[in-house]
Amino acid sequence: MLGPVLLAAARSESIRRIVSAAPVTRPVVDRFVAGERLDQSLHSVRSLTDRGLDVTLDHLGEDITDRSEALRNRDAYLDLCTALASDGVGPRVEMSVKLSAFGQALPGGHDLAYRNVLPVVESAAAAGTTVTLDMEDHTTVESTLAILAELRKRFPQTGAVVQSYLFRTEDDCRALTGEGSRVRLVKGAYKEPAEVAYQDKREVDRAYVRCLKILMAGQGYPMIGSHDPRMVAIGQELARRHGRKQDEYEFQMLYGIREAEQARLKAEGHRMRVYVPYGTDWYGYFMRRLAERPANLAFFLRALAGR
Ligand code: FDA
Repeated sequence: MLGPVLLAAARSESIRRIVSAAPVTRPVVDRFVAGERLDQSLHSVRSLTDRGLDVTLDHLGEDITDRSEALRNRDAYLDLCTALASDGVGPRVEMSVKLSAFGQALPGGHDLAYRNVLPVVESAAAAGTTVTLDMEDHTTVESTLAILAELRKRFPQTGAVVQSYLFRTEDDCRALTGEGSRVRLVKGAYKEPAEVAYQDKREVDRAYVRCLKILMAGQGYPMIGSHDPRMVAIGQELARRHGRKQDEYEFQMLYGIREAEQARLKAEGHRMRVYVPYGTDWYGYFMRRLAERPANLAFFLRALAGR
């Protein structure tokens, strides 16, 4: 029941100030966020790639309020592209971007987000890697998929994210099953109204399986973004049933979550990609992780209580 409250708090400026200033917050944040600076995040990336894991890097930032912030976020990603190019890591380290960090919610935001993300996608391609567009709340889906379609005309390797809790997603999956289409399927992390999204977890899970079946049967490259052992097992079974080789799909999990399971999947020969967030604007991301799982919240509350 606390989940919706935490998701509402994730968008509250006053609660952001209180949580961010609490001295105990930092060590808990460190469990989910790979540092505030690029060099710290690259250190985490190297430790993951040394263990055979692939990475998608997220420079944290979302829900910005002016155009200069959008430009700062774009520049942070361009710096990241430069660093990845000099490391020569290739597609094993890609990037995830939230279009709200590029101005999508500002006036004229659709065009602005496209203009800001385009140089990042170009630089990623020049660095031998690619970008996946994260999916945010349901009001952004049309715009994000339209930007994706535009980007894919020149950069077909650009990835999409779809959320099984939205009623529309099965149709979106069908539209995204073309050859080479990289699609990360997740359950969805935002507070959505009953008009557009399943509210019951079991319904969300059932929809996840239906979407996974569509993606696995298609010509694209499914990316199974879940920590749920049932979804992982079903993903493995569907891949086997459709005769997919281990480089024709991948698993994805978040930094700091189920690390033993990440290692196990890798050891079994699967491609396993870890989503690594970094940067100073960690609040919204952090609150969504607390909302997702009572154990994460309990960990935070124990730290607050000094135990
Ligand atoms: P869920 O939270 O439903 O839990 C199901 C079961 O999984 C649990 O009962 C438990 O067994 C296991 N489990 C889950 N978390 C665990 C933990 N910490 N430790 C041990 N067991 C655990 N969302 C979004 O809206 N837009 C996006 O772009 C993205 N991007 C994204 C990328 C990647 C790589 C991932 C993994 C996730 C996202 N998400 C996302 C978040 C996603 O929508 C969702 O909120 C979380 O992944 C939680 O859902 P799960 O499927 O992981 O399991």
